[in-house]
Amino acid sequence: MSDFEAEKTLAALKSVEYIEDGMAVGLGSGSTARHFVHALGERVRQGLVIKAIPTSKKTKALAIKEGIPLTDFGDIKRLDVTVDGADEIDPNLNLIKGGGGALLREKIVATATDCFIVVADSRKPVATLGAFPLPVEVIPFGWQNVAESIKKLNSAVELRIKENGRPFRTSQRNFVLDCRFEEIPDPVSLGIELRRIIGVVEHGLFVGMTDTAIIGKNDSVEIISGIRGR
Ligand code: 5RP
Repeated sequence: MSDFEAEKTLAALKSVEYIEDGMAVGLGSGSTARHFVHALGERVRQGLVIKAIPTSKKTKALAIKEGIPLTDFGDIKRLDVTVDGADEIDPNLNLIKGGGGALLREKIVATATDCFIVVADSRKPVATLGAFPLPVEVIPFGWQNVAESIKKLNSAVELRIKENGRPFRTSQRNFVLDCRFEEIPDPVSLGIELRRIIGVVEHGLFVGMTDTAIIGKNDSVEIISGIRGR
């Protein structure tokens, strides 16, 4: 296992300690969240009683394999805890997410959650968001015009393409534009600007949503509390 995989595992194992009997749990997507779902499955097999909502088809398949009981927003309104990964984490625990393309469902789940925990390895904390291209989910119709509007906000923009040369499609069959801003000093304002562009469905800036970050660092974890709720 690489050092970073070991850090992801450590962070994920720590996050499982936040899950208690009777909770409704949001299951994030990506490789770090995967470690969390594995560890949660282990606890369920030991007798932990929970129900969970996954944020992607891949996570759903893994949760079923792990024997984690699933539910949906037709059954429950709120989640107690969600654990998810991130592509970048700034000092205020604002995030870039969506590297795997699940940002819309991840944000729906995050906003329905009382406690949002982000798990990551030591490469993810940054001083300022933006080196990682910001994923923006857009309606396929007219995506070229949306891309031009985003370029005017000072970003290079690329349509996400799969290995087979076709555009990547989200669970909602939308496209993803990867937007290289280099630096995002004011994620709140940028989020507002992006949402104003007709054709943008959602963007990967998660601002003021994180309660706790658990970062794997070598053979231990750093736990950082966010400003949400203060
Ligand atoms: C998927 C995500 C992931 O949480 C993010 O890309 C981090 O993934 P990983 O844990 O594999 O680095 O937002 O849409």
